[in-house]
Amino acid sequence: MNEEITSRIKALKKEKDVVLLAHYYVDGAVQEIADYVGDSFYLAKVATKVKESNILFAGVSFMGESAKLLNPSKKVVMVDASADCPMAHMVTKEKIAQVRAEYDDLAVVCYVNSTAEIKSVSDVCVTSSNALDVVRNTKAKNIFFVPDNNLGRYIATKLPEKNFIFNDGFCHVHKSIVKEDVLKAKEARPGAEVLTHPECTMDVLEVSDFIGSTSEIIDYATASDKKEFIICTEMGVFFELMQKNPDKKFYSVGHRQFCPNMKLVTIDKVLNVLETMEPEVILPDDVMETAKKPLELMLELAK
Ligand code: 13P
Ligand code: SF4
Repeated sequence: MNEEITSRIKALKKEKDVVLLAHYYVDGAVQEIADYVGDSFYLAKVATKVKESNILFAGVSFMGESAKLLNPSKKVVMVDASADCPMAHMVTKEKIAQVRAEYDDLAVVCYVNSTAEIKSVSDVCVTSSNALDVVRNTKAKNIFFVPDNNLGRYIATKLPEKNFIFNDGFCHVHKSIVKEDVLKAKEARPGAEVLTHPECTMDVLEVSDFIGSTSEIIDYATASDKKEFIICTEMGVFFELMQKNPDKKFYSVGHRQFCPNMKLVTIDKVLNVLETMEPEVILPDDVMETAKKPLELMLELAK
């Protein structure tokens, strides 16, 4: 990494009282200089504990919004405000109102990959690493899981006591990982274990050895005695996988495991944004009030 950029970033963070949070899917150079790197759940928790008065978020919009909702008094700034998760927009308030009208004893369970507006009409949020615990601890019998169809279906297989209603949202990056390619990769690397994110489709999950969030995939590979792994999630996780496991080999399934939005976050932009402290995450007052409740409930139920 360019040393001049690195030292300038470090100096500006200190001078402006900024903490840099990064998701595992952003560029390795950004992960390297971040104060905290993690999965969505870890980053939401960390955001509530940091002492700095400003948070710079290296990730997509919903992550910055969650940090702001959980920390209304802090200034939250995005590395690139146009980095957005398409899945976050794959359910509407109208659809949620329609399902609410159809069911009694319903909880709207909202994957954190959703807009603040959708959170504001949901009962509880989940991330891929706490969805099982949170839904299990939710009293309602009927669960409307939004926006991700794949994570919803995966969680439903583990909780037969609940009645799930699914939405048709998906992550295009994880959907592009197809079973045939996973099987080919397994054939080419017979000893390798397949580690998969639950945003993948059910047929891919069925041929996997381990299913978990980005952090859980990294932790599993790090603790494992195995030496080779086929990774079914976005390529950004390879940075931490290789940092922690220089003696192990990690393989992708194809060329499509690439989130164009996460890749908008670059080290040069981190420096520019630190200079200006723009663009700031600003949400309407009514959304701030209502959308933070399902996030706070998630933190409580996931304990
Ligand atoms: P996690 O890091 O929580 O597994 O989330 C994956 C993701 O798709 C974030 O956009
Ligand atoms: Fe959204 Fe998928 Fe990109 Fe994550 S990897 S930000 S779910 S498009």
